Amino acid sequence: MAKVTSTEMFKKAYNGGYAIGAFNVNNMEIIQGIADAAIEEKAPLILQVSSGARKYAKHIYLMKLIEAAIADAEENAGFDLPVCVHLDHGDTFELCKSCIDGGFTSVMIDGSSKSFEDNIALTKKVVEYAHDHGVVVEGELGTLAGVEDDVNVSEEDSSYTRPEEVEEFVTRTGVDSLAIAIGTSHGAYKFKPEQCTRNAEGILVPPTLRFDILEEVSRRLPGFPIVLHGSSSVPQNFVKLINEYGGKMPDAVGVPEDQLRHAASLSVCKINIDSDLRLAMTAAIREHFAQKPADFDPRKYLGPGRDYIKQIVKHKLVDVLGCAGKA
Ligand code: G3H
Ligand code: 13P
Ligand code: ZN
Repeated sequence: MAKVTSTEMFKKAYNGGYAIGAFNVNNMEIIQGIADAAIEEKAPLILQVSSGARKYAKHIYLMKLIEAAIADAEENAGFDLPVCVHLDHGDTFELCKSCIDGGFTSVMIDGSSKSFEDNIALTKKVVEYAHDHGVVVEGELGTLAGVEDDVNVSEEDSSYTRPEEVEEFVTRTGVDSLAIAIGTSHGAYKFKPEQCTRNAEGILVPPTLRFDILEEVSRRLPGFPIVLHGSSSVPQNFVKLINEYGGKMPDAVGVPEDQLRHAASLSVCKINIDSDLRLAMTAAIREHFAQKPADFDPRKYLGPGRDYIKQIVKHKLVDVLGCAGKA
């Protein structure tokens, strides 16, 4: 199987009431952990690369590693692993063009911090170039709080998507999918303690996402794939391991998995997950060094990191996204 766009994936996901996992990749172990989970669960994948990831690992390394994962699936598991290679949070036409020219099958142009008109103009320009090259485009309306590369959006500057803007945005830009803001945010601290209640174990219980906005957007854009960013659930077993073994992540909290499952059963076809992979890798490495402080061979601690990533991705595919068996 060659790299694919998300067009067919989204059509099947929309009609089937599930979502595709879009996992951020930065190195070999992360790619292997995700791909091995998808192979075992027979799930389609979106592997996404931020501009920070591209700066860290270089475009060509990530592309070749992703191609290696596809070839490995075919040669060693006899499985055609469908992979959409996506640019996460592209902020300029030039960056999107470079990824399109370099073999990505999908790009996001994130004009969400611009005015409505400037967002439309930039998104339309990217769509025209992308569609001419067989590549699909994700746009964004509404601003998520949190940190994306060099962009740091404070909670005060974040804003929910205005449903009354979505039809005009989609029609005038020609985008293939739309990211919306309904209360999720990037990173491992998605809600302030004062926005939450606490359960019997003292763990924060966050407020419910704005499903009313999602439903109104879907009513206005029937059959159109919606994307959720900032959708890590911040597994408390990883947070506990990190804190137990010298880390300091008090009150880290994510989006409850039952709410993500509900979103996936509606019009949400792509769910973005990065922080959970970072937590998995960090928990494994901290645990390893706490138990075997004399180790200094990177394979000894990156291997367990890869195993924890595979474990959490399998759980997402089966229990949260519902896309296991859909490849
Ligand atoms: O949305 C942000 C993603 O988690 C990517 O993070 O820009 O630090 O690579 P990054
Ligand atoms: P998380 O920080 O919740 O993993 O979100 C990742 C994301 O939205 C990437 O675009
Ligand atoms: Zn994002």
